[in-house]
Amino acid sequence: MHCQVQSRQCIEDVIRFAAAEKLFLMADEVYQDNVYADGCKFHSFKRVLFEMGLEYSEKVELASFHSTSKCYMGECGFRGGYMEVVNLDPEVKVQLTKLVSVRLCPPVPGQALLDVVVNPPQPDEPSYDTFIKVYIVPLTVSFVHSKK
Ligand SMILES: Cc1ncc(COP(=O)(O)O)c(C=O)c1O
Repeated sequence: MHCQVQSRQCIEDVIRFAAAEKLFLMADEVYQDNVYADGCKFHSFKRVLFEMGLEYSEKVELASFHSTSKCYMGECGFRGGYMEVVNLDPEVKVQLTKLVSVRLCPPVPGQALLDVVVNPPQPDEPSYDTFIKVYIVPLTVSFVHSKK
């Protein structure tokens, strides 16, 4: 399967458009670890937004999403994920806080898994070698095979 990866230029253009039109941006970034094509790279909307300067970083409302369901995690059943929101209108924030407060959270294992997703094992940590062997190597091998 061949998909598309948004270039940094494209993301900047979307952010400029959202700023000009006062739009709320929702960046579904759950496939951020599935970028393999030569010359392609994942650029997070939040990072690009903040690198574009205060004119944008203090103004554009953005929600970014990530999930434990995708890429090497592939753990759909845990129902772990997050939404990070910046520059939210204060009145909307009150409503959002109310909404998330009355919802049930994912089970503890799902929350723990998400913590590992956002903080993967580092080279000086005990589980790093297993992480590379069990997840990263098979992922890389299957990617190389998919290109043949
Ligand atoms: C682009 C995209 N975003 C979000 C989701 C939802 O992921 P989750 O399993 O965390 O609900 C999916 C699921 O297939 C998806 O393809």
